[in-house]
Amino acid sequence: MKFFVDTADTAEIKELESTGLLDGVTTNPSLIAKSGRDFKEVIAEICAITQGDVSAEVAATDFDGMIKEAHVLRAIADNVVIKLPLTFDGLKACKQLTEEGTKTNVTLCFSANQALLAAKAGATYISPFIGRLDDLNIDGLELIREIRVIYDNYGFGTEILAASIRTANHVKDCALIGADVATVPPATLKGLVKHPLTDKGLDAFLADWAKTGQSVL
Ligand code: E4P
Repeated sequence: MKFFVDTADTAEIKELESTGLLDGVTTNPSLIAKSGRDFKEVIAEICAITQGDVSAEVAATDFDGMIKEAHVLRAIADNVVIKLPLTFDGLKACKQLTEEGTKTNVTLCFSANQALLAAKAGATYISPFIGRLDDLNIDGLELIREIRVIYDNYGFGTEILAASIRTANHVKDCALIGADVATVPPATLKGLVKHPLTDKGLDAFLADWAKTGQSVL
C-alpha cells in the first residue's frame, strides 16, 4: 500500500520525504487555507520536495471552469494530479483530462456507486472518505471493501485512495482490505511507528548495554 500524506505543510512533507516512506501528497482547499499560503506557490514547493503524485484541487464547480483551472495547475509540475469533486461536471472533467493524459483524483466519494462512476470516467484515483462516514455512524471501511470488490470484478485500473483517515487502525484495516493508497495526516502517519513494547525494550537494551561499558565506535 502506498502512503500519501494529507497536508499542505511543507516542513512536515520534507521530514516525511526524508524517511523514504512517502509516495505522494494530497491537499484540499481546507488544507491550503490552513497553511495560510498562496495555493500555486505551495503546490510548486511540494512538487519540488517529492517526486510522488501531488493532488491539487480545482475550486470551480462547472466543467469549463474546472478544465481551465486544471490546465493552470498541471502546468506547475509534472507530478501534479488534478483533484475533482464527485459531481457530473467533475466526472466530465475527469474524462476529458484523462483523455488529455492528465492524472486525476476524484474526491468526496461516499458511496460505491459514485466510485463506479469515477472509474468509468477514467479516474487515476478515487478518494472515499472513511472518517467523515464514521462520524455519521456509517462504516467507512465497508465502503473501501465494496469498492475493492467492484473494481476487482471489472478490472478497473482506478486506484483506491483511502482518505479522511483518522486512526492507526484505519490505516491497518485499509491495508488488510487492499486499498491501493492511504492518505494520512502527518501526526497519524508518524504515530504508526509507536509501540510501548518497542520503547520499553529499547530502554532495557540501552540499560544493559551501558552495563557492559563498551562502545561500538
Ligand atoms: C483527502 O484527499 C482529503 O484531503 C482528506 O483526507 C479529508 O480528510 P478530513 O475528513 O479529515 O478532512
